Amino acid sequence: MILIDEIASISRQWNQTLTSLFKGDPGRASRFVAEGAGLRLDYSKHWLDSAALTRLFELLCTCDFFEKRASMFAGNRINTTENRAVLHVALRGDSTDNFIIDGSLVMPSVIQAREQSYVFAEDIREGIVVGATGRPFTDVVNIGIGGSDLGPLMVSEALKPMIDGPRPHYVSNLDGAHLHDVLASLDPQTTLILIASKTFTTQETMHNAHKAKQWISSELGETAVTEHFAALSTNEGAVRAFGISDTRIFGFWDWVGGRYSVWSTIGLSLVIAMGSKIFDRFLSGAREMDRHFQNTPADHNIPILMALIGIWYRNGFGLDTQAVLPYEQRLHRFSAYLQQMEMESNGKRIDQNGKPLEYHTCPVIWGEPGTNGQHAFFQMLHQGTMVCPIDFILTANSIDTDHESHSLLNANCLAQAEALAFGKSTDEVYQDMLADGFSDSEATRLGSHRTFPGNRPSSLIMMDALTPESLGALIAAYEHKVFTQGILWNINSYDQWGVELGKAQCKALRPSFDSGNASQFSTSTQESLKWLLEKKY
Ligand code: F6P
Repeated sequence: MILIDEIASISRQWNQTLTSLFKGDPGRASRFVAEGAGLRLDYSKHWLDSAALTRLFELLCTCDFFEKRASMFAGNRINTTENRAVLHVALRGDSTDNFIIDGSLVMPSVIQAREQSYVFAEDIREGIVVGATGRPFTDVVNIGIGGSDLGPLMVSEALKPMIDGPRPHYVSNLDGAHLHDVLASLDPQTTLILIASKTFTTQETMHNAHKAKQWISSELGETAVTEHFAALSTNEGAVRAFGISDTRIFGFWDWVGGRYSVWSTIGLSLVIAMGSKIFDRFLSGAREMDRHFQNTPADHNIPILMALIGIWYRNGFGLDTQAVLPYEQRLHRFSAYLQQMEMESNGKRIDQNGKPLEYHTCPVIWGEPGTNGQHAFFQMLHQGTMVCPIDFILTANSIDTDHESHSLLNANCLAQAEALAFGKSTDEVYQDMLADGFSDSEATRLGSHRTFPGNRPSSLIMMDALTPESLGALIAAYEHKVFTQGILWNINSYDQWGVELGKAQCKALRPSFDSGNASQFSTSTQESLKWLLEKKY
């Protein structure tokens, strides 16, 4: 409380604009920059000066941030409501790392699980492991939801040019249309199904898994399930009960949160599609960001800066949303991925001691790639009544050779950040309109409509190109941002009790769709059910 009060009190003294900041300090563009793990964060276009930043950095000590960061890396059980360690950083570790949980080194089992999944993936890629009819696998369907879907799906889109093995497909939604549409174009003889579920109890995933099992059984016979299925899960018993053999279970651990699991065997579809060398590069990028986060002083530490900037706007200025806008089409699922990572982690209203919070936590995270967004919601970003801080993500090079498209794309990105920050005054609009031949009365009438208020903040997160390494580093940077914000907000970022009530209600309500009786539910639900059943054919 004291900490967030302090942020609010610093922000109350804030009276600068981005224009005045740049005018008063032309050097800020080169100073308000942090680099690490192949990323460059330009945070010069934020409502910050050195004095405000210094006070924000001081807050890190107030909340024992540095001790808590060490505690996470030390494998302590920082997920207190589930009594679990939070050690996804070990998933990108190597044999020289000494991650420990409960006195035991974890890297031997991490490396063993990784190697086991790599051998399986490479055998599939080389046609050594084949389907029931002896044909090599051409397609892999990952059935999972949330963290067991969004990470691998997002990465497979981001690194599409590196796919040279069986094509990955992702089915998450309970809506039967999702599985139907994916399977419609696939040949069961050459399709491998991965059931990705940490718990192996998730309703959507198990429902789709059983339907996929029926698809394989009815096309190739029941015995084909052995060859055509594998599971990525921590629940070996449930996987066996489903009918998947032990050699096809690729496990991980309860200290890997679902939304932090893309680095684990949950990434198997990626290894099959791109090969273990590419996946290793992805892990190494994240590892580099882990080291940057652990070792770089706060004033040059990318995740810490991202976290403080986010909290500054959320708790200092009451801004409700944060946009993430990649100028990189292949990152088109990145915002969706971040929505789970940030909002499921930090969308909390209870502090570490079980007390209701008196301040806001996670803002709404949203976004779409540029330039598409420019023709949709940018109107609001430029001239709407609410200010929304933005993370622009851009690359110096495209993986493809089309330099012209890429230069134009990046020109758009920098131009948008510039226009948002510095705007265009009514007087400038008026003068330009006169120069364009408008009459004085027209220029006066339209002036305010054409004015850009500016002072709309954004970060530029830049990298050489969208490579496995830079993507790994980018994801890890956001993971550590989320961790840092969780510490400042004094919440547990690693549980997700908020998803439970809806699940339980659904379980209780499903029989009402057969009986027509939902009397234990609200009249609104009863009336809606009645309407749905009346219209059903
Ligand atoms: O939505 C809740 C959640 O538990 C997420 O945290 C998780 O990523 C998702 O469901 C899927 O869970 P599982 O991998 O156990 O199927």
